[in-house]
Amino acid sequence: MLKRSNSHKAQPFLSDVKELRRRAKASMEKGAVTTSYGLDPKTAIDILQSALATEIVCVLRYTAHAISAVGINSSEVKAEFEQHAGDEAEHMKQIAERINELGGKPNLNPEGLMTRSHSQYVEGADLVDMIKENLLAERIAIESYTEIIRFFGDKDVTSRVMLEGILAKEEEHASDMHDLLVAREGRPMLSK
Ligand SMILES: [Fe+2]
Ligand SMILES: [Fe+2]
Repeated sequence: MLKRSNSHKAQPFLSDVKELRRRAKASMEKGAVTTSYGLDPKTAIDILQSALATEIVCVLRYTAHAISAVGINSSEVKAEFEQHAGDEAEHMKQIAERINELGGKPNLNPEGLMTRSHSQYVEGADLVDMIKENLLAERIAIESYTEIIRFFGDKDVTSRVMLEGILAKEEEHASDMHDLLVAREGRPMLSK
């Protein structure tokens, strides 16, 4: 029979199962938020509401651009916008689910959307303008999600990991927009 090493005793994850069950039972109304959760859930929910608003604006902007993209050889750009709109809708749902898990109500109300969002809704006068607007918006999302990820750190690992996945996608989006811009303009940008 294997002898248990004493070092196991010092490890916090081997704490008393009965005590863990007692604590879990005592606060079951809190859903996924347990006593080991490292943040004030209200703070985390507020931060995620702004990320949610950012994603909603991105869905709307890419959808508008996909519909209004016209001109010679616009189909490639149109398809890219459409695909991004789908990705942003997926992010929107992921973040809304997480807010719900934390005991919050995802704010999908159009009223005040722009004040909650980090990114802007700009229609763009032509195809190149639209690509530039999307690149700008992606870069803003990348910056703000990077900050949020740092903030969550090991205090809310689930939200952090979710946002890391979303961030990787936004980086892909920015790179796609950059490539389209170079293909159209022959230079990387950015005059405004
Ligand atoms: Fe997104
Ligand atoms: Fe994006």
